[in-house]
Parts: sequence; C-alpha cells; structure tokens
Amino acid sequence: MPLEKHEYISNVWSDGLFDGKVVFCTGGNGSICSAQVRALVHLGADACIVGRNVEKTEKVAQDIATARPGSRVLGIGAVDVRSIDSLQKAIDTCVKELGGIDFLIAGAAGNFLAPLAQLSPNAFKSVIDIDVLGSYNVTKLALPHLVASAKKHNSSSSLPKKQPPNSPSTSTSSSRSSSSSGPPGPGGRIIYVSATIHYTGLPMQTHVAVAKAGVDALSNNVAIEYGPLGVTSNVIAPGPIAGTEGMDRLAKKQQSTPGGYPGKGIPLGRWGLIKEIADATVYLFSDAANYVTGSALVVDGGAWRTAGTG
Ligand code: HXC
Repeated sequence: MPLEKHEYISNVWSDGLFDGKVVFCTGGNGSICSAQVRALVHLGADACIVGRNVEKTEKVAQDIATARPGSRVLGIGAVDVRSIDSLQKAIDTCVKELGGIDFLIAGAAGNFLAPLAQLSPNAFKSVIDIDVLGSYNVTKLALPHLVASAKKHNSSSSLPKKQPPNSPSTSTSSSRSSSSSGPPGPGGRIIYVSATIHYTGLPMQTHVAVAKAGVDALSNNVAIEYGPLGVTSNVIAPGPIAGTEGMDRLAKKQQSTPGGYPGKGIPLGRWGLIKEIADATVYLFSDAANYVTGSALVVDGGAWRTAGTG
C-alpha cells in the first residue's frame, strides 16, 4: 500500500519545491536513502537510484514513483559503487534520460558488527571501499553535472534582487504567487549520509567509524574546492533511526522498531524516524540552505552528546 504523505515527510514543505530537479542517489534502495528520494520526488524532483541488487532497486524505484503521479524514477541495479565503470554507466543513463543531475545523495554504505580482533583486512577494506571509495567515485562522476546545475542556478539566482528606489514594494501575496511560478531553485548540491559513531567510537564498529570519518573529510574538502563553483557539500549524520538496516544490525531486532526504545541514552527520549532524515534532506537541498556548506547536520535526538550515558 502506498505511504501517505505524512508518513514520509513533514507538512512544512511546499509541493513543487523541486520541480524540474534531478537527484542521483547511491544506496537508493535502502531504508534511509529511499525515504530521502521519496520526499524529493514528492516535492517535484525526478530521480535515479542505484544499488547492487537489480530486482530490489527496480522495485524500490517503482514504489518511490508513487509519491507523485507523472514522476520519473529510474532504478538501476547491478551498480557497485566500488566500480567506477558501473557507476559511470548509471550516471550517463541518468543524464540521458532525465536531463542532468542537480542533487547527489551519496548513501551507499556497508555495515556489520565485528570486534576488531575478528575483523579481517578484507572485511575492513570492504567497508572502507564501499563508503569512502564509493562516495569518492560518485562524487567524481557527478561533479561536472553538479557544477553545470549550480551555474544555471546562480545565473538566475533566487536571492532577493535589489529593488530600484521608488519602485512599488511587493506585497506578500504577490511575492507568493510569483515564487510559485518561479525561482529556479537550488542546484549543485551534495549530501553524504554519514553517522555519529566516529565522534566517540563504538565497539564492533571500527571499520564503519573509520569509513564515516573519511566520508566526512571528503564532504568537507568538496565544500572547499567546489564552493567557488557554487556547489554545496554537506553531511547528514543520522543517529538511531527506527526501522533501518543500520539499527537492525546494531540493536536487537525488536528494539529497533519505533516503540522499542529502552528508555535511556537519547535526550529526546525516542528513536528517530526515517522521515526526519528526509526532512533534513529537503532542508539542505532547498533555498533555505543556500549558505550552508561543509557542515554536518546531526539528526540524532542529541544521542551522541550523551555517549550512551543519557
Ligand atoms: C565479520 C564479515 C562479516 C561479519 C562480511 N564480513 N560480513 N566479517 N563479520 N558479519 C567479511 C567477509 O568475511 C569478507 O572478509 C569481507 O567482509 C567481505 O565480505 P563479502 O560478503 O565478500 O563482501 P561484499 O559482498 O563486498 O559485501 C560487503 C558487506 C556488505 C559490507 C559485508 O554485504 C554489506 O554492506 N552489507 C550491509 C549493507 C547494509 O546494511 N547497509 C546499511 C548500512 S547502515 P574475508 O576476510 O572473509 O574475505 C550504516 C549505518 C552506519 O552504514 C551507522 C551505524 C550507527
């Protein structure tokens, strides 16, 4: 059964916010990334999601497309982010079919619980390669398209233009109606889906913590090098979000549901919701975040600040 809007996005965003935009997303068949893309599609974007599993990726794409009649959502399977060749084909298909790339979500990630003593070099490398090399690969391939998108956006900037003296002031209602037909909206934006575990460390997650620290560093450097070209690069760091693969791996299965919070460790007193990551995504891709780059938006109910003691 298709999800109701309020189940995957808050009511504060205007329909049509991302009309004409295209998002490319790795890890797009996963619980968090598919929700991020669903929200963007609902708000007007077209999308291309890629994943390793062909059947799952195509099915999730079809499901996301139900968020908005008329949307175009490509699901391209057999893409391993560790292989730049398989990614290149997917990027080319996205650009050919959907006309470009305005937003990138680098969300593909590997995870399993293993104490350091039992972590083989290949196991460590597998996660580093999926998270860090994979994020690098997709960034490298998407950047020319993101730069083009940013250039288009900046040349027809939605920043308020200076009114000439004595010109009639614009009323609230007319500015609303002009903006609804209107501004081209942002382009050239990247979100890396990271984590908070490397802020403190977490047993059995050495490989993931090291990988996520690398992803954060990648985002920060992209922000610095590509800021002058109008591209923004930020990290979303989800905390414990109920109903995700990551939580299923880290918590007992019955605890990882929304009602399964054991009552300790999170200042806001509950697990996060997947839609709260979608909302953070919409914010960072919207004009409301025009001056935000090189940042990490932590969405964790304050959990990491307590380091598990709260
Ligand atoms: C120890 C393990 C292992 C485990 C795999 N390996 N699972 N070692 N414990 N549970 C080892 C293997 O033995 C092998 O090493 C090496 O890892 C590679 O395994 P493969 O299965 O060949 O690798 P591959 O097919 O490349 O898959 C890599 C994978 C992948 C990382 C294991 O299957 C995967 O990522 N699955 C999870 C996807 C997922 O849940 N994504 C959501 C992430 S959530 P040897 O030495 O034997 O060759 C997330 C949130 C993070 O990231 C934040 C949390 C707070």
